[in-house]
Amino acid sequence: MKITMVGTGYVGLVTGACLADTGNEVLCLDLDERKIAILKDGRIPIHEPGLEAIVRRNAAAGRLRFTTDVAHSVDHGTMQFIAVGTPPEEDGSADLRHVVAAARSIGRHMHAYRVIVDKSTVPVGTADLVRDTIAGELNARGIDVPYSVVSNPEFLKEGAAVEDFMRPDRVVVGCDDERATQLMRALYAPFQRNHERMLVMDVRSAELTKYAANAMLATRISFMNELANLAERLGADVEQVRRGIGSDPRIGYHFLYAGAGYGGSCFPKDVKALQHTAQENGMHLRVLEAVEQANEAQKRVLLDKITARFGERLDGRCFALWGLAFKPDTDDMREAPSRVLIDGLTRLGARVVAYDPAALHEAQRVFGDQPALRYAPSPMAALEDADALVIVTEWKEFRSPDFEEITRRLRHRVVFDGRNLYEPQMVRAFGLEYHGIGRGTSVP
Ligand SMILES: NC(=O)c1ccc[n+]([C@@H]2O[C@H](COP(=O)([O-])OP(=O)(O)OC[C@H]3O[C@@H](n4cnc5c(N)ncnc54)[C@H](O)[C@@H]3O)[C@@H](O)[C@H]2O)c1
Repeated sequence: MKITMVGTGYVGLVTGACLADTGNEVLCLDLDERKIAILKDGRIPIHEPGLEAIVRRNAAAGRLRFTTDVAHSVDHGTMQFIAVGTPPEEDGSADLRHVVAAARSIGRHMHAYRVIVDKSTVPVGTADLVRDTIAGELNARGIDVPYSVVSNPEFLKEGAAVEDFMRPDRVVVGCDDERATQLMRALYAPFQRNHERMLVMDVRSAELTKYAANAMLATRISFMNELANLAERLGADVEQVRRGIGSDPRIGYHFLYAGAGYGGSCFPKDVKALQHTAQENGMHLRVLEAVEQANEAQKRVLLDKITARFGERLDGRCFALWGLAFKPDTDDMREAPSRVLIDGLTRLGARVVAYDPAALHEAQRVFGDQPALRYAPSPMAALEDADALVIVTEWKEFRSPDFEEITRRLRHRVVFDGRNLYEPQMVRAFGLEYHGIGRGTSVP
């Protein structure tokens, strides 16, 4: 099948590459010339495990191509996927500017039947907006060309995006017309050979499903974080509690970890956007409001622990940070808790030396030149001169560090573990002072 991907970011590039890998002819469009130049040069602009090899293989086979030429991209694909960003507006609503621009371009250039597939996360009613936008363009051109609009929200997780796309839990397709449904079934058949995973539903339900999933996951995280803070006060250990409740199949172990707050490009904006949708419809989602407030507070928890230990002013202090990305296996720092922590530490006069296996370039772009912030080439190098170590992202390489070396290098031998990577007792056995999240254990 001939496919056009409008927007070649995290979602567009992964989707385009994986669809090319099953034999489709994919053309990825982006307006960002730098991004397209990098891709044409055989490199990829993001860190995503396994992606580079798929992009290379399919580009070499001629099945995956990149362009900035809009007319060419509309001409190419019978299926036009829209995978552009939908960032939050000031009021929390999703900014649909890029989605509408993409729809307008399609309407302006199409000559034959097209299926427009909304893959971006968009509020309920956006498929109608896309349909009307295209109709408006066709009207202005005085022509009538058939087209369908489909909602196909994406559930991939950054850091495991290729795996998620290749072996999806489910493929949600919101579609009211049979011709487009058949095309979507054919396109996704190679990804569900083992058993049917496609859930075909009405368009509005599909659009809402994506927000419902992210809102539910964010709720679990905020709930566990609040429980962790309470556990700490009560002298209980949230890790033990997690095991105790996760064993109930109605609750389950997944996504039940306490930490330094959720970030990333999706949860924060999607929680806000869903609240906004509710408000527009005369409703107030009280649970989600609390989820968001709890998360804002949780992003400050590490700073609170540090000031409780070292005092309200941190002049002359230096902190080693392990992890900048909002989660492991990505270089994405959108809404990352590390940003709140670095801002807080430097505002209070501290210096920060940060290490991240993938996000150092992104951090340099985000923070620019700041005299109080330096980057280290390795986890241990970050500890030089540091008073304490702060773990912000749970990268695998931080799980079993050389604690003797950490003890030797740190000035104050204090570890703040924002992801509960370590067993408190084990760390303390090395002579380190340990502060986790919700580890108010009675064990000294
Ligand atoms: N990142 C994720 O993990 C994830 C997961 C599921 C869903 N989503 C959703 O998918 C959408 C895309 O997210 P992302 O993280 O890939 O965003 P991104 O910012 O990484 O990529 C979006 C790309 O679209 C391009 N673009 C914008 N307007 C364009 C236009 N008119 N024509 C062509 N290209 C255009 C931008 O230059 C950018 O490269 C969002 O709605 C997001 O909520 C993201």
